[in-house]
Amino acid sequence: MKSVFRVELSSTKHPLAHRVLTPEEIEEVEQLLGWMASLGVHDDGHLPRVMLLTLALCRRLNMLETSTERRAALRAGLLHDIGKALVSQDILNKPGPLSIEERIVIERHPELGMRLASNLQGIEPEVLDAILHHHEAYGGEGYPYGLVGLQIPRLARVLSVADVYDALTSDRPYRTAWTHQEAVKHLQDHAGRLFDPVAVWALSLFNFDPSSAEGFDLPEEKVS
Ligand SMILES: [Fe+2]
Repeated sequence: MKSVFRVELSSTKHPLAHRVLTPEEIEEVEQLLGWMASLGVHDDGHLPRVMLLTLALCRRLNMLETSTERRAALRAGLLHDIGKALVSQDILNKPGPLSIEERIVIERHPELGMRLASNLQGIEPEVLDAILHHHEAYGGEGYPYGLVGLQIPRLARVLSVADVYDALTSDRPYRTAWTHQEAVKHLQDHAGRLFDPVAVWALSLFNFDPSSAEGFDLPEEKVS
């Protein structure tokens, strides 16, 4: 089964975004996308998809009890890679393996992103934490700090699952996109070592229907 997230969810023009987000949230997303574009980070569909999946997973995990939590999940999903604005395109787009020096540069993007995002007025501390820690691994092998398990902020653990899921189900120059089942299996196989098992479990509950954009299972997501 192909992931429904493969629909071209670019910007907020996709009907899915209008079904899931409030008008105020869509306005905020557009503003943030504009800010990111001014820094050279353009919407290729990945960021809004990660944002929506982060929201969906957080909802499944009862992490959206307040409007602040919902806003934080939305912002973290959209802004998680903003630090790449400060990383050379040559390194980001390098087709072959990275040198140790290049990897060190890439692995600074969470911290750089946290610093950039801290300039946004009213940004929640949870968002900055999620950006800083979205490449931590549950077993402690991630970066930048090698945090383990519950040391990793909860929103960062969920965001990591959404980010990797979307990457796996996206076409890459060196491979075609994985199916929904392949991506979920990979995440399950690495739950506990790389990923939060609870966040992976929440993902596994989704029933993506490839025949319809409505397959994104957020029937009651829209808030009034
Ligand atoms: Fe990242």
